This record gives sequence, C-alpha cells and structure tokens, in this order.
Amino acid sequence: MRAVVRDEYGPVDVLRVATVEPPDPGPGEVVVRVRAASLNMADLDHLLGRPRAARVATGLFRPTNRGVGVDVAGTVEVLGPDVTAFRPGDRVWADLFDSGHGSLADRVLVPASALSPLPGDLPFDVAAAVPHSGSLALQSLRAVGPVRPGERVLVNGAGGCVGPFAVQMAKARGAVVTAVDHGDKLDFLREVGADEVVDYTREDVMRGGRRFDVVLDIADTRSVLALRRCLAPGGRCVLVARRISSYAEKALLGPVVGRMTGTRMGTFMWRPNQRADLDELAGLLASGAVRPRIDRRYDLDDAVEAFRRLESGAARGKLLIIP
Ligand SMILES: NC(=O)c1ccc[n+]([C@@H]2O[C@H](COP(=O)([O-])OP(=O)(O)OC[C@H]3O[C@@H](n4cnc5c(N)ncnc54)[C@H](OP(=O)(O)O)[C@@H]3O)[C@@H](O)[C@H]2O)c1
Repeated sequence: MRAVVRDEYGPVDVLRVATVEPPDPGPGEVVVRVRAASLNMADLDHLLGRPRAARVATGLFRPTNRGVGVDVAGTVEVLGPDVTAFRPGDRVWADLFDSGHGSLADRVLVPASALSPLPGDLPFDVAAAVPHSGSLALQSLRAVGPVRPGERVLVNGAGGCVGPFAVQMAKARGAVVTAVDHGDKLDFLREVGADEVVDYTREDVMRGGRRFDVVLDIADTRSVLALRRCLAPGGRCVLVARRISSYAEKALLGPVVGRMTGTRMGTFMWRPNQRADLDELAGLLASGAVRPRIDRRYDLDDAVEAFRRLESGAARGKLLIIP
C-alpha cells in the first residue's frame, strides 16, 4: 500500500510517498481503509518535532513513528482478534493525534478505542476535514462558557485551520463575530460568516478602546495584559496555545489578572479525539451550522505538495488528501 512517511524530523522535504507493508492488526486494533484525510497545523508540528519537549513522547533524536496525518474518515477493513465494537465496512472517523498518526495512507492501523462511528449522511470528504481543528474550536469555546446571543466575540488568528470552525460555531450561537487575520484572508473570513474583519498588519484591534465579551486567541501573539485591554467587564478570554511559554503565562497569570479585573482569562487542557465532541461536531455538520471550507484536494501521491501549501499559509480552508 502507499503511505506518506518520514524517517527524521525536519521541514516538508523529509516527507515522501512510499510503498509500505499493509498493517496487520493485533488485539484491540483495527485497519481502516482511508477514504479521506486532511492536514492540520499539528501535522507540521509533528513533522518538525516541535515543541522540542514533545520529542520525549515522539522520539528524542528520530521520530519513532514514520506515519503522518491525524484527521481520518474511512471504513473498517480488518479487525484485530478481540475487537467487537466494529464490523468490516463500518463508517468511522477520528483524530489520531494521540493514537499513532498515519492517516495519510491507503490504510491506517488504529486502536479500536480511538474510532467513532461516522453518521451515514456525512460524506467522507466533509468528515475528514473536521476532527482535529473542529474539536479544538469546540473545546476552546466551551472553555469560555456558553456564548450567548448578541455577545461580541473576537477570534484572533481566524483564518487558519481552527479559526473558521470557531467563527461558525460562535455565529451559530447568535454572537456578533469579529475575525482578525492577514488582509489576504479577509474575503475568505467574510464568506465563512464573520460580521466584521480586521487586518492585523494594519490595525491593532486590542488598542483603541474596543471591547469584546469573548476573546478566542488562536494566533497566540499577545500577552495577558494586551488581551485584557479588549475585554468588556465580565468578559472571558481563552488562549489556544501554540507555545509552551505562552501556555504557562496564560495558565498562571491569566486567572490572577482576571480576578483583579473582573474578567475570566486563561487557557484550557485540550483533550484530543473525544467521542462526545465528534458526536457534537456531527450534529453541527448535519444541521448546516458548520460547513468546513475546503481549499484544495490532493491525491495521496501529491501529499507533499499539500504540505507545502499548508506551510506557506496560502490555504483558505482545509487541505484534503484523498487516497
Ligand atoms: N491546548 C491547546 O491550546 C492546543 C492544543 C493543540 C494544538 N494547539 C495549537 O493550536 C494552534 C491551532 O491554530 P491553527 O491550526 O488555526 O493555526 P494556523 O492555521 O497557523 O492559524 C493561525 C492564524 O493566525 C494568523 N496570525 C498570525 N499572526 C497573527 C497576528 N499577529 N494577529 C492575528 N492573526 C495572526 C495566521 O496568519 P498568517 O498566515 O499571516 O501567519 C493564521 O491565519 C496550533 O498552532 C496548535 O499547535 C493548541
């Protein structure tokens, strides 16, 4: 079978599409025939082995796992000896972030416990775009408490993988959404549903006295004090951290500053691949409240090109890989 593999940490150049042995499931494992997969910023981090602390789990000097890719939608093909929860042909989806990666392949070996049933009315190519980034958006919004109709929500760094999901989820709850990103992405963000868009290269939305009830910081470029400046009284702010130092700052300082200023500030402990989250995401997709935007589709053999587009920041929506 064909699979995207790498043997060392490094930039996209370390990737290649290779012919590898098909997986053989052991107890508790399942082989999934991949119908669609998608790329996330987490895949780029995994490739580069960043943050470096993560290498304690993924291999200190070389990655212990050659496989790449976390988002997957497909069908169960082969069951390990004691697997009873699924049958061959079942439609499934998952975020393999903490279950071995490897979705950029014809087939992937997965612990059965990592799989969730995929409702029959959700196409594979829609489903594959959602688990990782959709869950991050869902959990970060959950961390600020329920968004209420009419609340002013700021999504900082809205034009990447997670932001478009967050914008749509906040809109579905009746919020008035301001989306901040590079000027090139503003038309895309309007199309996704943002009420107002701001180009971070031209305007600092956190200065000038603007106030928001909820701030979701995905770009992770601002300090607790800067974020505090644009929170309304009683406002809530959560960071979707990309840097360990920033996570520590928001986790330690955020609650202190929040308490002193009558707001709630902090970050959250992300839990990948929760079945309840995937069920909720399936509901949002089925109702049309959330519709993943697809930038481009690639054959498996062109997956390296897809990674280059992810790395360039040029994508407007998710990059799909269809084996
Ligand atoms: N527990 C947690 O919090 C947790 C768990 C898992 C993953 N993560 C992290 O969450 C992040 C997910 O975000 P993502 O996948 O959506 O990232 P992304 O695709 O890189 O999107 C970030 C967006 O922010 C924009 N941006 C850059 N600088 C900005 C600024 N100064 N102001 C406003 N926007 C700016 C970027 O635009 P440009 O193209 O101009 O740079 C980009 O469009 C990943 O980095 C991942 O590591 C966090």
